[in-house]
Amino acid sequence: MANITWKMEDGSEISADVNDGLNLMEAATSNNVPNIEGECGGCLSCATCHVFVDQDWFAKTGEIDDIEDTMLDMTDVERRDNSRLSCQITASPELEGLVLYVPEP
Ligand code: FES
Repeated sequence: MANITWKMEDGSEISADVNDGLNLMEAATSNNVPNIEGECGGCLSCATCHVFVDQDWFAKTGEIDDIEDTMLDMTDVERRDNSRLSCQITASPELEGLVLYVPEP
C-alpha cells in the first residue's frame, strides 16, 4: 500500500491509500480526482490520465515505454519532462508519499 496525493491547480488536494498493484489512474477515478478520466480503461489509447510527477519521485515511477511515450505527445495539456500517464504507474510500497500534479485543460 502507498499513500498517494493528487494536487490540483486550485490548491486543493486529495490523498488516498492505494493497494499494491492498482494503477494510479484507477486509484484517481475511484477517489474522484478531477480531470483524470481514464477513458480507455488503462490500455494506453486515450491519454486522459495525464499527470505531472513530483520531480523527487519521477525515477521511482518506472520506465516510459514507446507506446506511452507516443501517447504523451497527445495529451490535452502539453507534456513536460515529468509527465506520465497514470494508468502506467502501479502502486507499490516504494511509492509511499508520492505526489502527482493534475493538469487542467
Ligand atoms: S487511461 Fe487511457 S491512456 Fe491511461
